[in-house]
Amino acid sequence: MRYAPTMNTGPMRLKTSLALLIVVLISACGANPRNAGAADNVQKIVIAHRGASGYLPEHTLAAKAVAHAQGADYIEQDLVMTRDDRVIVLHDHHLDQVTNVRDIFPDRHREDGRFYVIDFTLEEIRSLSVFERFETVNEVSTPVFEDRFPFAKSHFEVHTFEEEIELVQGMNKSMGRSVGIYPEIKSPAFHTHEGKDLSQAVLDILKTYGYVEKSDRVYLQCFDWAEIRRIHNELMPQMGMDLRLVQLLELSEEFKQLREDGAFVNLAKVADGIGPSIHMIVEPDSPATELRITKLVTLAHAAGMEVHPYTFRRDAGSIPDYANGFEDLLDIFLYEVGVDGIFTDFPDLAARYIESRQGLESQAQ
Ligand code: G3P
Ligand code: CA
Repeated sequence: MRYAPTMNTGPMRLKTSLALLIVVLISACGANPRNAGAADNVQKIVIAHRGASGYLPEHTLAAKAVAHAQGADYIEQDLVMTRDDRVIVLHDHHLDQVTNVRDIFPDRHREDGRFYVIDFTLEEIRSLSVFERFETVNEVSTPVFEDRFPFAKSHFEVHTFEEEIELVQGMNKSMGRSVGIYPEIKSPAFHTHEGKDLSQAVLDILKTYGYVEKSDRVYLQCFDWAEIRRIHNELMPQMGMDLRLVQLLELSEEFKQLREDGAFVNLAKVADGIGPSIHMIVEPDSPATELRITKLVTLAHAAGMEVHPYTFRRDAGSIPDYANGFEDLLDIFLYEVGVDGIFTDFPDLAARYIESRQGLESQAQ
């Protein structure tokens, strides 16, 4: 396999499938003027998306340590399971878009050509190098974000969920902070099909490390509404746990079709928050002078839920045209729309921006 550091921009991602009960919540509402004056006096949280992944390969311990040092309030872990039932921190249940698995275990792919985490032991996965995320076309691999950490250069390894919690808790102690964790159960239906109970394993680890109550510094997230309900209604009660849950949402055609306010009331009986794509909140083709803001945040807040949209990136091609740069994008979501926190690959920039806004507000008082 060749790894070519050639150009490949990182377009705004538009996920296309939505497997949710909430089939969909909102229709786009009318245009909202800029500076509409959303409440901004509540502490906003910065969630380091896959760590400080704008600076180091995603989900490496290095990226997590930098995110902690850069002032993130929470650090995200995407979680999948190995053949020997270990929970590891990796975005995909495949290995082939962030590691050199094709080079090290060339024959271990399935019929679809993919290399599945669940077919490898932890020891085998630890023998791989983690790279910047890449795409492979005609046997040539190129990084998704060309201006990030040099592609296919250094050696980083995959680590377990336990190791990451120990890093965060260890740095909390040594730096006198209380940074939280934001784990995501990835592909629960796939894991169940493969005979693994990922959610149960994740809850076992969380309980072992002291994350038990809603007041603990953790949000547990998942795209799968059936799994969120299972965690809330079955698993957590059985284990004496009551964590904050976040239902992730993705943009889809269905999303645009309905408005169903009651969906939020039902959702809020189970989830403490939602994690929508930014494009579900501000229509991506909005004019800068007349943002088209959907009712999603208003409805979620009215139902008592927090809103933490994803993903805020400063890379070329990742900032919608309606925003005049990364800080303007932050300003629109945090202080005009009024979301409660954001997932970002650049936690330092978000933390600094929020701090500067708070400074301005306290000067004005
Ligand atoms: O979990 C929030 C956000 O990370 C969802 O998107 O695909 O990056 O996990 P993804
Ligand atoms: Ca995630």
